Amino acid sequence: MAILKIARMGHPVLMQRAHEVPDPTDPAVKRLVDAMIETMEDADGTGLAAPQVHVPWRIVVYKVDAGRAADEDGEAAMEGTGGVPTTALINPVLEPIGEETEIGFEACLSVPGMAGPVRRFTHLKYRYRTLDGETVEAEAHGFHARVLQHECDHLDGVLYPMRIEDMRQFGFVEELQKAARADDDKDDDGEFDEDADA
Ligand code: NI
Repeated sequence: MAILKIARMGHPVLMQRAHEVPDPTDPAVKRLVDAMIETMEDADGTGLAAPQVHVPWRIVVYKVDAGRAADEDGEAAMEGTGGVPTTALINPVLEPIGEETEIGFEACLSVPGMAGPVRRFTHLKYRYRTLDGETVEAEAHGFHARVLQHECDHLDGVLYPMRIEDMRQFGFVEELQKAARADDDKDDDGEFDEDADA
C-alpha cells in the first residue's frame, strides 16, 4: 500500500472530465481505492477524488464525522445521516432535491492552505456503484451533501475556487482564522470557520 502524490491546482489532470469505471469489481479499482483512503487519512482530508491522485477515473472516497455533521447542520443532522463512515463511490451521480442552496467554506487538498465560500445544494440524491458492483441510492443533506458536490466536481474538472461568488472571502486559512478571531462578534452565515480539506 502506498501514499499517493496529490495533484495541485494547475495540473491538467484536475481540469478534465474523468472516465467512467467500466468494471467496479476489477481488483485494480480496489487497490486504487485502498491507496486513496490511505492518502486521504495521511493528509487528514474529508474526501479525495481519483483525479487528485493523477488517475482520471470517476472514483471518490470520503468520510464525515458525526460531530462535524452535527456542528454544521444542527438537529437535523443528529436525527438523520449525521456521520458517514469511510465510503468509496464508483461512478457517482448527483441529483439535487429542490432548489435550496447554502454557502459554506471549503478547502481542498489540491489547493493547500486556502479556503473560500461556495454555494452548494442543501439536499441531494446520489447514486453510485460499490466495489462489489452493487448500485446504491441514497440522500444527503448539509455538510454531507457539500462534500459529495465538492468531490464529484473533481470528476468533471471543477475546483471549488471556480465556484466562489465573492472572491474577497477567498484566502489563506491562517489569515482567514486571524480575521475571524478579530471579528468574533459576527456570526453571519457563510463566515469562515474550520474548513475540511476535500
Ligand atoms: Ni478537493
